[in-house]
Amino acid sequence: MKLSKVTKVLVVVMVFAMMLTACATKATEAPAAAPAATEAPAAAAAETEAPAAEAAFGQADCAPNCSYADMVMCFPQLGAESDWRTANTASFKSEAENLGFQLVFSDAQQKQENQISAVRACIQQGVSVIALPPVVEDGWDAVLTEANNAGIPVIVVDRSVSADESLYMAHIGSDMFLEGQRAAEEFNKKFPEGAKVLELSGTTGSGAAVGRADGFRDALADNIEIIDSQTGNFTRAEAVPVMQAFLQKYKAGEDFQGIFIHNDDMGIGAIEALKAAGVQPGDLFIVSVDGTRGGFQAMVDGWFQADVECNPLLAPQVAEMGLKIMNGDAASVEKHTLTNETVYYPENAAELLPTRQY
Ligand code: AHR
Repeated sequence: MKLSKVTKVLVVVMVFAMMLTACATKATEAPAAAPAATEAPAAAAAETEAPAAEAAFGQADCAPNCSYADMVMCFPQLGAESDWRTANTASFKSEAENLGFQLVFSDAQQKQENQISAVRACIQQGVSVIALPPVVEDGWDAVLTEANNAGIPVIVVDRSVSADESLYMAHIGSDMFLEGQRAAEEFNKKFPEGAKVLELSGTTGSGAAVGRADGFRDALADNIEIIDSQTGNFTRAEAVPVMQAFLQKYKAGEDFQGIFIHNDDMGIGAIEALKAAGVQPGDLFIVSVDGTRGGFQAMVDGWFQADVECNPLLAPQVAEMGLKIMNGDAASVEKHTLTNETVYYPENAAELLPTRQY
């Protein structure tokens, strides 16, 4: 059969079109195969590489054989406002000397901004652990985050912080709420028929003052009324004018029968004002907190009817925990370690006074 010229042209065009389609299909298939070719080596690597063991937070290079000689502990003390604080500082200094670790000490003079600057300097220095006694509860999030980012563990010491628990390793200190409750129970026992009392409270916004005030209110009997509450900032000097102002406003023994005082130093300041106003020991029922030698003396002299213990000798526990963390054992560290404490009374104050360490 003879093909016409037009038909021959048509056949050539169709064959050419089919060849083009075949080429185009091959071109689009190629990328689909590519990832399979590149995936293979990755899978092989996964099979051969052992997962790297992650160091625990705060673990030092010397782990698991770090000793106290390897430890640099930052201790930005909040101040020197009371005998309790002096004993707390001495506890850290003597522990450093006895165990042989380096203590980076500073005194913030009751100012949070000074404490924050001191913590920042310690982060820069690359200390092993920061033991932080916070002057107030709030406002620590930023600097705790900075310590976290630098891999430096923070142990909150003594007072608490309101920051999220994930921002610090642990807290070692007293149960301030329980201390307030214990003080309230003394008033409840003394005044079953009810009474009016004053409160001389600690540093505003501090974990110690907040906890003690809340615990006191929580446990105080309904028939005992707190007629006034003012801060003396945990110092003798500031407690004197506060007590003087109270005595001008309220008649001792008539308008109020007792005082809850948040620490012994303020109690001693208050006694000074009470004496000057002619109040005698025993005219008022006074409960204080700390259990310092000064507090014991006030019980011996008849001014305090009970002293709720708050133990400042915290350094041994803090140092031990710091070393644990350095050795990679952060997982076994308790989040909150509360100090075992009691209540002291005038009955055996004279006998115990010579044995008091602070
Ligand atoms: O945070 C502990 C308190 O602070 C103590 O009761 C007080 O004496 C100190 O200043």
